[in-house]
Amino acid sequence: MAGSESRYQTFLDALEQDRLLRTLSDVAARHARTLDVAGQVYVNFAGNDYLALRFHGALIGRARDWAQAYGTGSGASRLVTGNLDLFAQIETKVATLKNKPGALLMASGFQANAGVLQALFEKRVLGDAPLVFADRLNHASMHFGCQAAGVRQIRYRHADAAHLDKLLTQYRPDGRPKFILTESVFSMDGDVAPMSEIASLARAHDAMLIVDDAHATGILGPGGCGLSEGADLIVGTFSKALGSFGAYVACSETVRDYLINRCSSFVYSTALPPPVLGAVDAALDLLPNLDEDRAHVANLALAFRDEAASLGLDTGASSTQIVPIIAGAADAALDLSARLRQAGFWATPIRPPTIREGTARVRIAFTAAHTVRELENLLDALRGAIVPAAKTGTA
Ligand SMILES: Cc1ncc(COP(=O)(O)O)c(C=O)c1O
Repeated sequence: MAGSESRYQTFLDALEQDRLLRTLSDVAARHARTLDVAGQVYVNFAGNDYLALRFHGALIGRARDWAQAYGTGSGASRLVTGNLDLFAQIETKVATLKNKPGALLMASGFQANAGVLQALFEKRVLGDAPLVFADRLNHASMHFGCQAAGVRQIRYRHADAAHLDKLLTQYRPDGRPKFILTESVFSMDGDVAPMSEIASLARAHDAMLIVDDAHATGILGPGGCGLSEGADLIVGTFSKALGSFGAYVACSETVRDYLINRCSSFVYSTALPPPVLGAVDAALDLLPNLDEDRAHVANLALAFRDEAASLGLDTGASSTQIVPIIAGAADAALDLSARLRQAGFWATPIRPPTIREGTARVRIAFTAAHTVRELENLLDALRGAIVPAAKTGTA
């Protein structure tokens, strides 16, 4: 045990040396727009609460009501006695939002990807090891699910349908079951996968298309339905634009039944608690009426990208509410984030291994709670941060 401890410490020391050590900051958040760290209030540009629903009265009210009526916990996994009658109504709403025959609620987005992919790729069930074509920048939870299934992914270049086509064509004679895995909006880049091309390729090559719609659900697409059109199975989370917690899978009834039987993270985990279900249910009811908020967020991000470009900043291929400022080295991202913090803005630096080496960034995320004035202040702060940084050569 003592020997292991010292190895962990050596590992941590190496991370610190490389400026890659991650630490937790205690945050007091009392508003969707700001957060309080060590007594200092910052405008929060680092969250995923894109529609600012976390503090919405309807979500809080239904969470409270359902806690009072059903208790604070569900008491068991859904296959035991945790399948409260609340689930069916929410699953119907999710299936309708995603235009799929069925939906299944899960504990979290990470657990959903980890468990669902493992179950779907089961060799014994499929009759052979599957061929899984995956975008290189897919979220860690998707890799985790593939690893758990013992699948070696065939990675295609990021958001590159032509490369995917080439790989699918190369494997065309191979009769093994095929799957394509992608995010719709990429969490660290804020760019969008070429969904309709990928969906056509999936059909042409008889591949099952699985889309993680985490960063699109609620905030993008008509009525906030996301960007998963053409997918066979959609995974998403309620923890981002829906302002709460938990996740869903939207799919056929057959796949739903299969997951109820084979998805370990569903079978062996306690059902979501009633207050969380209440918040999710209320958020789903609000979604169709939030077009103005969605447009406001899109406009803020668009204006930010335009101005950032004129400042010579690299925002990659972002076209959504997530806008990275790609700084390059981990040091440069840390430095930029620290300068923004001094100016009163919280924007987290994202470093390897979350993103590729040499692409460390500050990830800016816009929400419905941000004002145009705050956008302008952020841009002013960036102007102030870049000039001194350029002089010292750190950004
Ligand atoms: C693309 C993507 N999928 C899944 C998850 C995990 O979702 P959750 O936070 O509900 O575990 C996240 C975010 O953390 C994500 O960005």
